[in-house]
Amino acid sequence: MRINKYIASCGVASRRKAEEIILERRVKVNGKIVEELSFNVDEKNDLVEIDEKKIGLNKNYIYIVLNKPEGYITTVKDQFDRPSVLDLVTDISERIYPIGRLDYETSGLLILTNDGDLTYKLTHPKHEVAKTYVARVKGIPSAEKMKQFEDGLYIEDYKTAPAKIRIIDKNEEKNYSICEIKIHEGRNRQVRKMCKAIDHPVQRLKRAAMGKITLKGTEIGKYRHLTTEEIEYLKAIK
Ligand code: URA
Repeated sequence: MRINKYIASCGVASRRKAEEIILERRVKVNGKIVEELSFNVDEKNDLVEIDEKKIGLNKNYIYIVLNKPEGYITTVKDQFDRPSVLDLVTDISERIYPIGRLDYETSGLLILTNDGDLTYKLTHPKHEVAKTYVARVKGIPSAEKMKQFEDGLYIEDYKTAPAKIRIIDKNEEKNYSICEIKIHEGRNRQVRKMCKAIDHPVQRLKRAAMGKITLKGTEIGKYRHLTTEEIEYLKAIK
């Protein structure tokens, strides 16, 4: 972006006034005085100062919730060139990224943002945002198995924190059940590993909610912007 336009976009001065400031040799980019009015700024990477004070564009924060289909990765790209959830977000120019991960085979709720502070907070182990999953598991877990799940169990060398599980539907003939599972942690493949540990491996997995945020009518493969209330709620989580 041309330097005078950049200065104006930062709300510091009009474009014409910005030119005057440049000619007065008061503008530095990456520590060097800007000599030319036609100078172009890389708005993401350059450090721009006026009278030794840093200026910057107000960041446009984006918060969306995507209903991830199975068969998408949640990282930018991988070595197998599999489709990424970012391929589904076509009309947002800001660089956004997912808060946490979902497995390639898992579907459901994924929040994406460019708000690094919120991402850091919600993925930090000490913030206990409940995540609700709906899992189709092999077999029908007994009360005893569900208690093990709720008390915490060992996956590898780690004991999981108390979690919740309840059967919401079952099919004895086809030998599977649909369970609602709530966990606070977010370890790699945690739900799959916990279900396997009680001998009821996951056949399909979907995340239905993160705290109070739900997919609320967002079709599979589509996304919606979070409401102001939802954003405030996420920011207020301690
Ligand atoms: N737990 C899993 O096992 N997989 C996910 O994608 C999310 C939670």
